Amino acid sequence: MKITVIRKAHFNAAHRLYRKDWSMEKNDTVFGLCNNPNFHGHNYEVEAHVSGPIDPETGFVIDLKILKEILKKEVHDRFDHKNLNEDCEEFFELNPTAENIAVVIYKLVKNKLDSKFDLKIRLYETNRNFVEVVA
Ligand code: NI
Repeated sequence: MKITVIRKAHFNAAHRLYRKDWSMEKNDTVFGLCNNPNFHGHNYEVEAHVSGPIDPETGFVIDLKILKEILKKEVHDRFDHKNLNEDCEEFFELNPTAENIAVVIYKLVKNKLDSKFDLKIRLYETNRNFVEVVA
């Protein structure tokens, strides 16, 4: 039986969606308000879904203290109160869409997890707009 343990994390960050190799006009057409040159912010909510069997000794799939610490270091401390485009090297050449942010978070968290676990990342950019990454 596979059980899923879910931990939430949160960060506030600014971003701008645009391509340097496109004109302002084309960026406006494709990205609309998200191409504001002065950036804009979101309250991002992240869910890390970690699946695996229950360890019969502990009764845990994963110790939530471990998952909490991974999300704090790899998500909150890395991205909170940052300008994703300008402060975070992950997005120097990568458009910080919800999709791309979720993929970056997936890789950062996956890298710190025991390989026996399956991972899904859900990232909310707003209450109504969210994306999921499952590899
Ligand atoms: Ni935005």
